[in-house]
Amino acid sequence: MCGIVGYSGKREAVGVILRGLSKLEYRGYDSAGVAVSDGESLGVYKSKGRLGELEAVLEREGAPAGTVGIGHTRWATHGAPSDVNSHPHTFGRVTLVHNGIIENYLSLKRRAEEDGAVFRSETDTEVAAYVIDRCYGGDPFRAFADALPLLAGSYAFAVIFDDRKDEIYAVRRDSPLIAAKGDGECFVASDIPALLSYTRTYCLPEPGEIVRLRRGELTLFSADGKDVTGQKRFVTAELTEEAAEKGGYPHFMLKEIYEQPDTLRRLISAHTENGAGGIFAEELKDTSDIKRIFIVGCGSAMHAGLLGKHIIERLCRIPVEVSVSSEFRYNDPMVGPGDTVFVISQSGETADTLAALRLAESKGAKVCGIVNVAGSSIAREADWVIYTRCGPEIAVATTKAFTAQVLVMYLLAARLAHDRKTVSGEFLSEYLTDMRKLPEAVSRTLSDSMSALCRKYAEYNRDYGDYYIIGRGQDCAAGCEGAMKIKEVSYMHCEAYAAGELKHGTISLITDGVPCMAIVTDPKTADKTVSNIKEVRARGGHVLLVTQCVAESPDVCDSYLPLPSLCFHLMPIVAIVPIQLYAYHTAVIRGCDVDRPRNLAKSVTVE
Ligand code: BG6
Repeated sequence: MCGIVGYSGKREAVGVILRGLSKLEYRGYDSAGVAVSDGESLGVYKSKGRLGELEAVLEREGAPAGTVGIGHTRWATHGAPSDVNSHPHTFGRVTLVHNGIIENYLSLKRRAEEDGAVFRSETDTEVAAYVIDRCYGGDPFRAFADALPLLAGSYAFAVIFDDRKDEIYAVRRDSPLIAAKGDGECFVASDIPALLSYTRTYCLPEPGEIVRLRRGELTLFSADGKDVTGQKRFVTAELTEEAAEKGGYPHFMLKEIYEQPDTLRRLISAHTENGAGGIFAEELKDTSDIKRIFIVGCGSAMHAGLLGKHIIERLCRIPVEVSVSSEFRYNDPMVGPGDTVFVISQSGETADTLAALRLAESKGAKVCGIVNVAGSSIAREADWVIYTRCGPEIAVATTKAFTAQVLVMYLLAARLAHDRKTVSGEFLSEYLTDMRKLPEAVSRTLSDSMSALCRKYAEYNRDYGDYYIIGRGQDCAAGCEGAMKIKEVSYMHCEAYAAGELKHGTISLITDGVPCMAIVTDPKTADKTVSNIKEVRARGGHVLLVTQCVAESPDVCDSYLPLPSLCFHLMPIVAIVPIQLYAYHTAVIRGCDVDRPRNLAKSVTVE
């Protein structure tokens, strides 16, 4: 996810753009840049790092004069954060900023280089600039009509053509873009927070529509160049700037919970178009030497590893050992040449996990980093990297990055099972078919009725000092993550327990009214866990059952959270989302600081 801004009007563009970018840093902050024109010349300034680094560059080199400009704040997807990979990118007569992912950029780049094109950056965006430049013969509409069909993936572009320096053209597909107008000035941006200091009047360009900003005048055109400005519905933004950065949600955590259908959809579409055998084909050429796997991480990342163990051992029959990083690095682990280690980390900077990576590599193992932040330490030092690409995660308690990590495990299992032929082609086809239904299933767990149920149960349990989550196998692993969420954000003690193990001690803590959640997504163990639920209820425990495979009945549970039904192997992702919502509501009800819980940090870069 990145943020783009474009401006044309009566003010100095650089100030408007920098302010706009500062309101979009929640979309990414790896680097920033601006291109400003006075109609004659175009000054491009860009820098790795937060917006402050760019401001220092402008301070040093003198801010460019001009009332036309575009700007960008980057969330690195292709190419590590660096000056040269920062936007704006220029190729030939085209200078542009981009939010999105051009999925076929590698093949386009190879063909371009065969034709003699020379690229300076590692980015997909520079390739897009090349394609548009190659199609530009002086008419922007023609250029877009010829170039955009060549680009696969998502984009919101703001473009300045070298022979039209007093104009900005913007166009989108799948990435957000708004077009706004003020008094003698006009704007484009990825999101409304960028503009609330100047105007609240905006419209939403349709995919393919072309926005033009020229001398303070906003015009929208259909793809074939017809002026459609008069047909556009302009609305007035009601949000405050701060609320708008959260997309209208009261907290980043809630916003990021609701982003999960999209983050899952993006990951699935990026990796499954060529079937199970094509999953991670770029990252993972040969899987035949993967005989033993270690998965290492901290907190939620380790819980993703637990779910990875279940799915990989079950589908691929490869032994998997899961460790928390701080244990792995000091236990002199029996890892060495021939072993494959997956280190999972949203930030890519967690000290214990980075240390575990270095230890594993020093022992001769092959290490893959599963990270969200491009160019992070783990991304740079791992032998190979799989990106979760779910955009910046601002809330300290991870939600969308966690489900993306679990999805990477599920994708990896499909690839390994395919290559080792440990499951049938028919199973894999059904598995991937249901995987493609995952985003919609997660959306349904985020419906108003489900949210109301989660809030109701959170209200009921709000004052208990202890909470238990039981499950078996994959459901116990999902319970570990659920318990972590509840503890992290609501400060309620919560313990996840193997359902079959409860009777060997911990059940002594179950007395009248003690709240207990049971997760049942694996039909093979459902009856056993139902028996455990009855053991808990027999001692006065109040049980909330989260399931897609056990019918609601007062004989079975006190409360019920029904899940949409998919291939049960994939169900932990569906189950964890309402539990995230439950934890969120519990935290709000208990007056906790949801996005910045006490004592925690988004990434612990010290031991
Ligand atoms: C903790 C975070 O500090 O670190 C957790 O609060 C996270 O949400 C854990 O799971 C690991 O962080 P990372 O960045 O390595 O995934």
